[in-house]
Amino acid sequence: MRRRLIAGNWKMHKNSETARGFAEKFLKIYRVTPDLDVCIAAPFTELLALEEMFKGTDLFTAAQNMHYEDQGAFTGEISAPMLAEIGVDYVILGHSERRAYFAETDEVINKKVKKAFEWDMIPIICCGETLAQREQGLEGHIVRHQVVMALAGLPDELVSKAVIAYEPVWAIGTGRVATPQQAEDMCKVIRDVVRVYHGNAADDVKILYGGSVKPENAKEILDMEDIDGALVGGASLDPDDFLKIIKQAQL
Ligand code: PGA
Repeated sequence: MRRRLIAGNWKMHKNSETARGFAEKFLKIYRVTPDLDVCIAAPFTELLALEEMFKGTDLFTAAQNMHYEDQGAFTGEISAPMLAEIGVDYVILGHSERRAYFAETDEVINKKVKKAFEWDMIPIICCGETLAQREQGLEGHIVRHQVVMALAGLPDELVSKAVIAYEPVWAIGTGRVATPQQAEDMCKVIRDVVRVYHGNAADDVKILYGGSVKPENAKEILDMEDIDGALVGGASLDPDDFLKIIKQAQL
């Protein structure tokens, strides 16, 4: 039985005041969730504050990106040891916005995945096809390729700890959610390709769906067999909405 994960992705939203306001309200309404994990991917500037506010709770923090070197002349970048030092637990890697706007390649994402594990952080590896690719029937091909490349060279025991988020680009921030069956079909494609390359790690790897997940549609998506949780963008900005989604994930 895989443990579920609900991950919020704030993207480039919230400042110290609004992040703190979120955490204060959320901590008041949130109750420990024995059967699933919850993390919030905040901007770098808010991670330390969230770490401190989440102390003594079962909530985890996540970064939205990082560099694959430990240190060096990489102006504007943040490294894995910097995140690990403040206690960050997860890191989102290869989000479609990073791929599209910052030209992240599968090779770079693979280096980052390895580096995250080296520093005991769990990578949340994003994959997903564009609308044009889906219209050409290429979604399976694209996503398999992204997953195989992201996990290349990793031992199976690390793959079994990884999180993979299937996020069709056409469903991100558009309000156009994949049907539960579309999401399940692609999460199954991912699990099958992990099995081909990494054997039984496929039974443990967590696969999330992301793309316009809201309190209204979360349950039917989370009920699908190969979907172990959700990566939630817009709806994670509001503590009430985020909590409603977490509740849908409770068994
Ligand atoms: P969304 O974003 O829930 O706002 O569609 C999801 C994501 O990009 O992770």
